Amino acid sequence: MECRFCNHPLEHTLIDLGHAPPSNAFLLPEKLSEPENTYPLSAKICDNCMLVQVQEQKDHKEIFDQNYVYFSSMSQDWLAHARDYVQMAKKRFDLNLESRVVEIASNDGYLLQYFKEQGIPSLGIEPASGTAQIARNKGIETLEEFFNTNLANKLKSEGRSADLLIGNNVLAHVPNINDFVRGMKLILKDRGAITMEFPHLMHLINDSQFDTIYHEHFSYFSFNTVKKILEHHGLELFDVDELKTHGGSLRIYAKHRRDKSKEISPKVSELLERENKAGIGELEYYNGFDLRAEKIKRNVLKYLISERENGRNVIAYGAAAKGNTLLNYCGIKNDLIPFAIDTTPFKQGKYLPGSHIPVYSEKKLKDSKIDTLLILPWNHKEEIIRKLKYLGEKGTKFVVPVPDIIEYSSPDFNPRKVY
Ligand code: TMP
Repeated sequence: MECRFCNHPLEHTLIDLGHAPPSNAFLLPEKLSEPENTYPLSAKICDNCMLVQVQEQKDHKEIFDQNYVYFSSMSQDWLAHARDYVQMAKKRFDLNLESRVVEIASNDGYLLQYFKEQGIPSLGIEPASGTAQIARNKGIETLEEFFNTNLANKLKSEGRSADLLIGNNVLAHVPNINDFVRGMKLILKDRGAITMEFPHLMHLINDSQFDTIYHEHFSYFSFNTVKKILEHHGLELFDVDELKTHGGSLRIYAKHRRDKSKEISPKVSELLERENKAGIGELEYYNGFDLRAEKIKRNVLKYLISERENGRNVIAYGAAAKGNTLLNYCGIKNDLIPFAIDTTPFKQGKYLPGSHIPVYSEKKLKDSKIDTLLILPWNHKEEIIRKLKYLGEKGTKFVVPVPDIIEYSSPDFNPRKVY
């Protein structure tokens, strides 16, 4: 196996999570009696460019097909984040009715809807037909395509280059990263700006977020590595924001190297240095990550078993892809968690891949007595606890599994570390 960026042989394993089904391969009831495909899920580190990566096992075209079940608009906090970004970008990049915003992986139009509200012309590129259709229903022009150099050439030849090119939580999902970034450079106007958000590798490692590794994510980036990748393609970073989203993300700002119209923020060298000081460029930094994941596995099992033995039922909230990594790595089935709740209509009535735990809508919360609610998408814990506080007030405990087992319960809902 070779590095997808620099082609260097991959000899170091960050973590081997065993075999896992594709993270969003939810099962219809009639499929439960059939064999299920699983693929090795092992993250490697390239000792040349330090890109952390998982090999593509299933053609990514099969993952982002019409059955793709991830809808960005399911989180109110994420929508607020998108709205704030649009306000910031409009001002900072002086966008107006003549500008063009292009978003790669525009999902259900969660972000472009706010540019539309401002009258700023935008184009979404989204390969999954279900999500693309929802965006179109909102009046957002959406090309149902994978973004790559071919598509970039086509858009450029049609005069559809971007003043602002956005890619949120997409770089990790791209198997051919060089072709993708080459395409981004191609459709960026001479004085245009790129912004991209992605989970920051430093948080993934420091906070033992092993569950964010799944078959939909092919790469995990530090700021240093993303710089190398962009520079290789003639792009230059000019700013960075550290965000709380998805357990700690970066929003990077890039431009053409030859574009001298933008100042380089001191935040760029500050973060590069901070990462280097932490050791992100050394293999030793990554040692022990797998042992920390094993410890979390034992703690999660210990907690679930103890709840069960004390006669308390535990229900999962949020049928997130990361939840599937956690459940499958821990070997949890529906004897420990009888069902999961998710607000995504396309996940309801189906079963989680691997664990075969059934997924219901929030309505089920009303007719069940729930002692403990295990929040699988811990990145949304504030929003979820806020929304379900009424259950907490009736005695339900909320718990998150990563990086520690932390409970939140009435009356103060302050965090309490269990293990
Ligand atoms: P994510 O961690 O990849 O964003 O996935 C979050 C999952 O949790 C997704 O399936 C939507 C679901 N969810 C709810 O069901 N209710 C909620 O209030 C939130 C915030 C998320």
